[in-house]
Amino acid sequence: MDVLVVGSGGREHAFVDVLARSEGIGRILAAPGNGGMAASAECVPVAADDVKGLVDLARSRGVGLVVVGPEAPLVAGLVDALEDAGIPALGPRKAAAQLEGSKAFCKELCRKARIPTAAYRTFNSAAEALSYCEGHDRWPSVIKADGLAAGKGVVIVHDATMAVNAVRDMMLNKRFGEAGERIVVEDFLEGEELSMIALVDGETVAVLEPSRDHKAAFDGDKGPNTGGMGAFSPTKLLTRRVYEQIEERVLLPTVHALHKAGTPYRGILYAGLMLTVDGPYVLEFNVRGGDPEMEVLLPRLKSDALALFHATATGTLADFGEVEWDPRHACGVVLADGGYPGPVTKGLPISGTEDAAALPDVHVFHAGTALDERGRLVTNGGRVLCVTGLGDTLQAARDTAYAGVERISFPDMRFRSDIGWRELEDHASPAGAS
Ligand code: AMP
Ligand code: GLY
Repeated sequence: MDVLVVGSGGREHAFVDVLARSEGIGRILAAPGNGGMAASAECVPVAADDVKGLVDLARSRGVGLVVVGPEAPLVAGLVDALEDAGIPALGPRKAAAQLEGSKAFCKELCRKARIPTAAYRTFNSAAEALSYCEGHDRWPSVIKADGLAAGKGVVIVHDATMAVNAVRDMMLNKRFGEAGERIVVEDFLEGEELSMIALVDGETVAVLEPSRDHKAAFDGDKGPNTGGMGAFSPTKLLTRRVYEQIEERVLLPTVHALHKAGTPYRGILYAGLMLTVDGPYVLEFNVRGGDPEMEVLLPRLKSDALALFHATATGTLADFGEVEWDPRHACGVVLADGGYPGPVTKGLPISGTEDAAALPDVHVFHAGTALDERGRLVTNGGRVLCVTGLGDTLQAARDTAYAGVERISFPDMRFRSDIGWRELEDHASPAGAS
């Protein structure tokens, strides 16, 4: 079967790689893809948010499955358009993608289905939000733009002045455009953060192995938030008890609620959770795989990825059986431009990716890379590469990943040297396990 992978990041490169290992795989197309995917996929210059262009491409090339990486095309209705054209796709339709597309929708669903989440208020009016913040007395609080804001629409505020500034910024100055016309103000939750990612076929849920990412830009979890500077899988934070709590209190009720509402969820469901002393609480849902979480999960997937994704997309996950995993640990290190998450320089030459990828148990996933007019690999974004190592322990996986990192260089390359540190230094107490 031929498959189209939509997107151009490290996550999508990981999809291409794992699909290339599948038994029944034919040709892999990537739209638009990146400089590193060309070895296993045909990159076609159709943008990831060009719904019509992607449907035309999938139809004209006769692909049997479309794997959608980023959230924007899902929220824009790509899967509706593909399914209407008779093409199965891994990803939710527009109505269910609101789970990520609107924080207010997500909170309302949690409230109705009694899924644990922070207490909150939704505001459509700046005047009401400002007066609420001025009279508020529980700090810190969290202010969230309702719509998609490329991971930047969440501000933790420590007093009324900060809260008022954040509200003004979103609702009056329209920093995130339409995404900030409505906001959610919610209670601050304490605990350890954990991502749980599952495949959902409308009714059946297959929870993937647990993973954790590192959002802060610098070592020691310092500096501004990024899309993720590295990740590892599995994690000891997930005891059997916490796992069951997440499945029973969060994932199953979410899937049932969407099913009952007539908007069944199909695709990858990513729950961003806080493990509090009262158990897991939902921080957010994403309607896609995490990046860089997929770069540590997919190299551990032993089941046939094409069969698994196709079963998810066509509602036959219940017949698939257990998803099988490599028991080893994976650790992924993101190599970023020195300016990331701020403005970045593009077009800088990258060397050593092939040397790194030739090391045993090392995967090099391309994110912001391109081939220049002379066919040389150059930087093309903030997060440039993700180097994943596998090993019998997290320490071994991490050593393998950094051995790969050492082979690679580009001007002003920056990476965190401490991926997995909390887990390795035993700072990660299983908060929800007590
Ligand atoms: P979100 O996009 O909603 O996951 O928020 C981004 C980040 O903000 C999360 O990964 C958390 O680190 C933090 N965050 C969001 N909501 C809360 C909350 N209610 N309490 C504490 N931290 C939060
Ligand atoms: N790594 C966090 C995310 O993909 O949202």
